Amino acid sequence: TDEPKVFLPYTKPTLIAHRGASADAPEHTIAAYELALKHGADFVEPDLQMTKDGVLVCLHDTTLERTTDVAKVYPDRVKEIRGKKTWPVAEFTLAEIQKLDAGSWKDAKFAGARVVTFQQMIDTVKGKAGIIPETKAPEVYGKLGLNMEKALMEALKANKLDTPGADPKTPIIIQSFSAASLKALRKDHGCKLPLVYLLGAGEASKDELKRTKEFADGIAPNKALVLARPGLVADAHELGLSVTVWTFRSGQTGKFKSVREEMAHFLKELKVDAVFTDNTDQFPRK
Ligand code: G3P
Ligand code: CA
Repeated sequence: TDEPKVFLPYTKPTLIAHRGASADAPEHTIAAYELALKHGADFVEPDLQMTKDGVLVCLHDTTLERTTDVAKVYPDRVKEIRGKKTWPVAEFTLAEIQKLDAGSWKDAKFAGARVVTFQQMIDTVKGKAGIIPETKAPEVYGKLGLNMEKALMEALKANKLDTPGADPKTPIIIQSFSAASLKALRKDHGCKLPLVYLLGAGEASKDELKRTKEFADGIAPNKALVLARPGLVADAHELGLSVTVWTFRSGQTGKFKSVREEMAHFLKELKVDAVFTDNTDQFPRK
C-alpha cells in the first residue's frame, strides 16, 4: 500500500538506558553502562560533548562541575558565565578531563570512575545493545571550530557501525534537539542511520510533525508533551515516525504510583515505542 511505513527498529517495547543505568550508578560512567546491560537495556544512551582537542566524550552537560570534581582539581580554570562559576568541557583536553573523578558526586562507592570517551562507550556496549548517541549543543562546538557530526560519523565508521544493520546486535540511532545537526548528518555527512528529533514541551502540531518527517525518522518527545497533546503518538505513527519518550525516573512520576507503572502506561495505553529511563531495573517487561 501507499501507507507510510512506521520506522520501528524495535521488536518489542524498548528499554533505552538514559545516560546508562543512571538512577543506580553515576551517569555516563562505565559502571552505569555495564549496569544498564545487566538490566537488559535494548539501547544505551550517551550524550556527547567534545574536548578541547576534539574528542567525543559522554557527558550530559556542556560543563564539568555537576558530575566531576573539576572545581577541586582545576580551581584556577574556573570561568564566570552569567554570574555562575563554571568549567566548560571544551576548555579541557581529554588528558586533563581523564584526571577527574566522575563517580564520587553520586556516591563514595563510585570514587575513581572516569569520564568516558565515546570510543570507550562503544567498546563497552558493542555486541550487547544498541547505541543512541545524542549530539548535545553542537552549535557550541561549531563556534570553536569543532564539528560534532563529522566526529560522530568518523567514530561510527571506525567501529563499522555507520550504516543501518551493519552490526545487528548494535543498532545505532542518532538523536538531537538540533534540527540543524540532524540535517547536517544527512546532507553533509551522508548519514543513512535513523535520526530522531527531540521535542520539548509545547511543540508538535501535525504540520510540525510533517516538517520533521523531512529530516528525521522518529520523534522523541518529553513525556509531559505526550500527555498534553492527545493524538500525538497516532499522528506520528501515521506519518511513519517512531515515538521514543523521555525521561522516566523514580520520584518524578506525576499521578503514577511508581516509575514502573508510569512506563507501562506509556508503552501499553499510549502506544509509545520506547522509553528512556534512569531506572532500568524497573522496566515493565510484561
Ligand atoms: O535524549 C533524551 C533525553 O535524554 C533528552 O533530555 O536533557 O536528558 O538529554 P536530556
Ligand atoms: Ca539525552
